[in-house]
Amino acid sequence: MKEEYMMQKTDIGVIGLAVMGRSLALNMADHGFKVGGYNRSREVTDALVKEHPHDNLVPFYDLETLVASQERPRRFLIMVKAGKPVDMVIDQLVLLLDKGDMILDGGNSFFEDTRRREKRLKAEGIYYFGTGVSGGEHGARFGPSIMPGGEESAYRHIAPVLEAVAAKAQGEPCCAYMGPDGAGHYVKMVHNGIEYADMQLIAEAYLLLKYAGNYTNEELADLFEEWNEGELKSYLIEITARIFREADDYAEGELVDHILDSAGQKGTGRWTSLESLKQGVNVSMITAACNARIMSNRIAERNAAKALIKEAAKQPAADKKAFGESVRKGLYTAKIVAYAQGFDLLRHASSEYGWDLNYGRIASIFRAGCIIQAQFLDDITKAFENDSELSNLMLDSYFLEGINSGKGSLQSILCLGIQNGIPLPAMSQAEAYIDAFRGTPTGANLIQAQRDCFGAHTYERTDREGVFHHDWGQDNE
Ligand code: 6PG
Repeated sequence: MKEEYMMQKTDIGVIGLAVMGRSLALNMADHGFKVGGYNRSREVTDALVKEHPHDNLVPFYDLETLVASQERPRRFLIMVKAGKPVDMVIDQLVLLLDKGDMILDGGNSFFEDTRRREKRLKAEGIYYFGTGVSGGEHGARFGPSIMPGGEESAYRHIAPVLEAVAAKAQGEPCCAYMGPDGAGHYVKMVHNGIEYADMQLIAEAYLLLKYAGNYTNEELADLFEEWNEGELKSYLIEITARIFREADDYAEGELVDHILDSAGQKGTGRWTSLESLKQGVNVSMITAACNARIMSNRIAERNAAKALIKEAAKQPAADKKAFGESVRKGLYTAKIVAYAQGFDLLRHASSEYGWDLNYGRIASIFRAGCIIQAQFLDDITKAFENDSELSNLMLDSYFLEGINSGKGSLQSILCLGIQNGIPLPAMSQAEAYIDAFRGTPTGANLIQAQRDCFGAHTYERTDREGVFHHDWGQDNE
């Protein structure tokens, strides 16, 4: 066996053959690339070639032989757990590589780690590409959305492989060069943040329909299927419609009703939220989605408080069908805000890190393959094609129309939801963001006065330039 694989030449090496690594390796093999597969524990490699034998997939059991199987410049895709394991693989690999070789990290690595690794490897003449990959197992196997970032001049060496395996939207690959060093992983991080907000909004729409609209699972499935024919058409709406119909294996009824009301998170949403505060950008809906998951995890406390805090009196929606339509419009309006916030963060990061991100291109590679893929992304692409410097997505004429025509629905479903005691953190943040954004008073005049009163922090005026301090009386002494 060893002799046999040692003779094989390969086009690319995939290091780490767990679910995502093996799916991408098979995807590359399907597209005619000779792939060398390596995993730290040989059982994983053996299991892959046994379960998925493929002429273009060659197993390797040591990195030296894997490296020797390629012509220069060599290409390696690391698909191991983000964090220390990535550094460990790099440390081993770098000893075997030559100048001009390329390493891609396809995991959900933190962009600051990617920037550090890129800098380190650049000093050794090795190109490092932090490569966001979205689409889960199915996407990786049959066409993910891919966000590579690194040295632009070397991108042409990896582009043929990445663009071949990526999903296609209207015939175009959902893969494009994002920018230098950490740009690819940053875009993937914000993609995930938007994914959190999108999922939370859908969950809130579900709560409204179920508890204020009295929709059954079957009615929910029908409604979501209908929604998936219109402006909300997306992967997440499509799978949600299917989820409502799924029968339970263990008990009567649908599975969704037997799943614990508590959701975990691996951290990319939280990173987006933390990073937004660093950049001074408001991504309140992504933060709300993180907080909603955090609240959901407090199961014991929530159960105890249930008996202590009074429940709101139920006020069902008067007209079920009309309410369903209001929820659809409110959801769509809030979704525009979530994407406006996500792209605002990208815009600030681009200038902060000197990346020159192309927002239209980013939206276009989200059109297929990734978790947030949606018809809506076509409209975002168009918005940035019309104005590459668009400061906020809500100001594009198409989305402005969406906000103006849907805002009333968002307000009405929020009112009814709040009266029914339904927590709607992301939708509430959407409404608050629109209201603050459109210049209605935020109360910051009073906050300025308080700061000046207790700390002499000064204040600015509406009627003249400059900063002022007022003597507020003895309590501020
Ligand atoms: C993707 C997803 C993926 C993510 C999962 C779970 O784009 O394919 O974003 O990268 O890991 O969706 O994320 P959480 O555990 O943080 O919800």
